Amino acid sequence: MSRWHVLGAGAMGCLFAHALTRAGSEVTLVRKHAPRARATVTVEGADGTESVTCATVTAKSCGSVAHLLVTTKAYDVANAVASVADHLQGNASVLLMINGMGLAEALARSYPALDIYCGTTTEGAYRKGDLHIRHAGRGSTTVGQEGRPEPPAWFGDFAGAVEACHWEPDIDSALWHKLAVNCVINPLTAVHRCRNGALAEGELREQVTQLCREVAQVSYAAGYTRTAQNIEADALRVIAATAANRSSMLQDALAGRPTEIDFITGHLLERAGEHGIAAPLNNALLREVRRLRT
Ligand code: PAF
Repeated sequence: MSRWHVLGAGAMGCLFAHALTRAGSEVTLVRKHAPRARATVTVEGADGTESVTCATVTAKSCGSVAHLLVTTKAYDVANAVASVADHLQGNASVLLMINGMGLAEALARSYPALDIYCGTTTEGAYRKGDLHIRHAGRGSTTVGQEGRPEPPAWFGDFAGAVEACHWEPDIDSALWHKLAVNCVINPLTAVHRCRNGALAEGELREQVTQLCREVAQVSYAAGYTRTAQNIEADALRVIAATAANRSSMLQDALAGRPTEIDFITGHLLERAGEHGIAAPLNNALLREVRRLRT
């Protein structure tokens, strides 16, 4: 069984830490403050409530790290990884389970020896308290390293612990698809302070169509043909399936936290720029969401 250090103790960090511990992996939560050597992680699910205990350490005292799972907000990744950089084994495996794109490449430039993987999940969970979450909806988890057909040795245990988890050799396309859906739903819900379902009606529905048109253009140009062809149908399906939810970006905005807009719409616009595509509504939303905190 692999030993995992986990950065980020939000809903996803807790969900994965809980699943890995339950399956027998040794999990250490790396936290800002670690007053106790062990802490309880509690997950409320459809089948009841279950708790496990995990080791807790601070970055300074975390010991040698061979497998690092990063579940922080996108804008915290660089600092979080830097905080444990001195403890990373030369060729440590780092799995980024975060929103947005572009961070794996940035991390690889800063730490060329690291073996970096990316993941994306449709699991639904929200935080009820410190290390206490509600697992609200079951989904699937996709992990990969672009261009690597076969998973590494640690993946067997990981996929055995995490429900409906599979290896994806073309992980970039999976990440892009998630990013494309997020570009359509997250900024609109954050700017209009509405739940996802409100995007299916009226003027917001028209903006969804325009965003999808822009996202499709960029997707075609960047070579993500399946996303280009299906974005509107896929976004509408997610809007319907999550109609009652507040998007993660709306939750961040309501809580006065920074949002992940630069890693979601910002990344899309970078790619649009490379291909000379304007994407005006995405541009306007990027500016509006950036202004939400100022
Ligand atoms: O970021 C989110 O909230 C989710 O990815 C999604 C799919 C937009 C549903 O709320």
